[in-house]
Amino acid sequence: MNKQIAVIRGDGIGPEIIEQALRVLEKVAALYGHTFTFTDVDMGGCAIDKWGDPLPEAELAKCLASDSVLLGAVGGSKWNDVPGHMRPEKGLLRLRAGMGVYSNNRPARIWPQLADASPLKKEIVDRGIDFIIVRELIGGIYFGSHTTSDVDGVKTAVDVLTYDEREIERIGRIGFETARKRGKRLCSVEKSNVLDSSRLWKKVMHALAEEYPDVELSDMLVDNCAMQIVKNPAQFDVIVTENMFGDILSDEASMITGSIGMIPSSSLGASSCGLYEPIHGSAPDIAGMDIANPIGTILSAAMMLRYSFDMAEEADAIERAVGAYLDAGWRTADVMQPGMKQVGCSECGALICSLITKA
Ligand code: IPM
Ligand code: MG
Repeated sequence: MNKQIAVIRGDGIGPEIIEQALRVLEKVAALYGHTFTFTDVDMGGCAIDKWGDPLPEAELAKCLASDSVLLGAVGGSKWNDVPGHMRPEKGLLRLRAGMGVYSNNRPARIWPQLADASPLKKEIVDRGIDFIIVRELIGGIYFGSHTTSDVDGVKTAVDVLTYDEREIERIGRIGFETARKRGKRLCSVEKSNVLDSSRLWKKVMHALAEEYPDVELSDMLVDNCAMQIVKNPAQFDVIVTENMFGDILSDEASMITGSIGMIPSSSLGASSCGLYEPIHGSAPDIAGMDIANPIGTILSAAMMLRYSFDMAEEADAIERAVGAYLDAGWRTADVMQPGMKQVGCSECGALICSLITKA
């Protein structure tokens, strides 16, 4: 198969981790007889420096013309003082909205080889950690108006949080469908004891539940959910939640699996053209040092093959290679444990490439 992949290297460690994912994709292409064509797209801080805009229209157009988009990470302190609408992160939000990818799927699964890297007690980890956070990605407070003004001489900031029932229903469906393909348990997370948008969220989820009688729906307040994720993560199968709660909970969920550096994500909308990115940030403090963990990005590339290109065998081959790399005791600094062999970012990519084989 021929596939056009738009590649956003971005800022900080973005270019280093993307390089390793591209090597992996090249290896898969050679092994399975595919052709992947990579088109570089500027987004984030590097686009601000080059074009004065975190996502120029022409760069978004390249993404929309591709079969899918692979993204490293964007942002850094260098752009901290630019106005809010020009920040590197704004480029990412415009990309997500421009692509219409409303459904962000963030798996939290512990690799057994990394059980000791989890900050949780062994008895909690031993009960298993394997759930998915389905995060609404193009609505809510991220996309409401943001203003700062003087009100009677007092500086006042306003961020508006809006959800309509159609936006809730379409992400709710993804939650139910995802649960249906797994353990059939869906936990809807909100703050309905305080927020109107959450009360509407809960109402829509319960109305939808009638269409999915095979899925068990439960509700959880977001503060309780944050607690339950560290207390008893084994209870979760699929969590569905709004944009900002999903942002916060997915960082927490990733950490209990050992390292945020291991976690990939997919973002999809109505078409098969998806956005695939690790869930971590651009880590400017370690950029250029060749010590970042590229596995979150490599596994994001695997998700692209699985969900956008229908290449399940190829995706399995990448995931097997990551497992074999961990089995062999190789570790990047973020998951390093006594007795393991420490490697850098590019060595990690090379090792995983060398372990990719057909089943
Ligand atoms: C994420 C990130 C982004 C978000 C930032 C970089 C805008 O934290 O993908 O989780 O908040 O969505
Ligand atoms: Mg985040």
